[in-house]
Amino acid sequence: MADLKGGLIGCGFFAINQLHGWADAKGASIVAICDRDPERLRTVGEQFGISRRYTDARAMLEAGGLDFVDIATTVESHRALVELTTGYKLPTICQKPFAPTLADAKAMVAAAHKAGVPLMVHENFRWQSPIRAVKAILDSGEIGTPFFGRVSFRSGYDVYAGQPYLAKVERFIVDDLGVHVLDVARYLFGDVASLNARTTRINPAIAGEDTVTILLDHDNGITSIVDASYSSKRPVEQFPETVIEVDGSEGSVRLEQGYRLVMKGRSGVVEKDISPPVLPWASKPWHNVQESVAAIQQHWVDSLTAGSTPATSGDDNLKTFALVEATYAAAASRQLVVPSSLL
Ligand SMILES: NC(=O)c1ccc[n+]([C@@H]2O[C@H](COP(=O)([O-])OP(=O)(O)OC[C@H]3O[C@@H](n4cnc5c(N)ncnc54)[C@H](O)[C@@H]3O)[C@@H](O)[C@H]2O)c1
Repeated sequence: MADLKGGLIGCGFFAINQLHGWADAKGASIVAICDRDPERLRTVGEQFGISRRYTDARAMLEAGGLDFVDIATTVESHRALVELTTGYKLPTICQKPFAPTLADAKAMVAAAHKAGVPLMVHENFRWQSPIRAVKAILDSGEIGTPFFGRVSFRSGYDVYAGQPYLAKVERFIVDDLGVHVLDVARYLFGDVASLNARTTRINPAIAGEDTVTILLDHDNGITSIVDASYSSKRPVEQFPETVIEVDGSEGSVRLEQGYRLVMKGRSGVVEKDISPPVLPWASKPWHNVQESVAAIQQHWVDSLTAGSTPATSGDDNLKTFALVEATYAAAASRQLVVPSSLL
């Protein structure tokens, strides 16, 4: 079967990873790119040898020849672009944060349904191989029935250097990073009945909050803690690793800093290094994220080819989005919030 032909909108900082991932993907390639910044368009087009270049997304879609679109712009453009691409009946991937508000996100999901095309949110953290290794252990029953979990991302890395817009947003860490960590909690422990949360801003030079601590009650009785910080100065910088702890009725599993897996399960004690590969185009410390980009994009191709729903479909991501909204609501009110009541 011929490769699926994709068009990518937004050729900024993170799109470079996506374009490398597409170059590695089996069954798809990017044949057209769009960015409203002509200089960016030219540089990226030359780097990846893509000659179909547009400064206007509609012009790219009008020119035709596409099987799907990958939207890699920042959040404020997402709704208009998803409504545009689905209007052209094109299967669409949209970067996170999915939308500025839950109402926008719902409208985008509705637009894809109306057009009858798949919509996937580029929610890549659950595609990191160390996180998938923890999920496989939980699914295997090695540690029995989980009753406690913690998913944590704490760093002092200067994210503002590569993504200057992050210093200016009023809603920062929950929207930008918490969304990933909350999605991992959903992936590992299931949907959430209620949560409570606290946020703070430690770094005085930014507009939004840069720490968050969330206590979650999952539908299946698991209690988990999700915490994230961009103001944690550590002896060994942890960026961009997510560490995980799970206790179950028969054992426990830890994904520790440095990708060390430590498990006590039904079959004994296991300690091993499960570092993700550094792909040929990747560089440390981003390599775990870069590997997950290639993995989620391959998942998209496989899902489109098979006609199956991608794991982080728009519908699925509304539940993660509701956790983000519930976190802000709980932090503001200091009260328990039921995320499903927001949907
Ligand atoms: N999933 C992850 O692990 C991860 C990591 C980093 C960033 N991101 C996300 O990726 C998205 C992009 O972030 P970035 O840091 O690459 O941003 P960026 O500002 O570097 O790049 C965005 C690009 O999109 C272009 N653009 C914006 N609106 C457009 C439009 N309507 N039409 C055409 N071009 C348009 C801009 O000119 C810019 O070149 C953000 O939503 C961010 O949260 C995800």
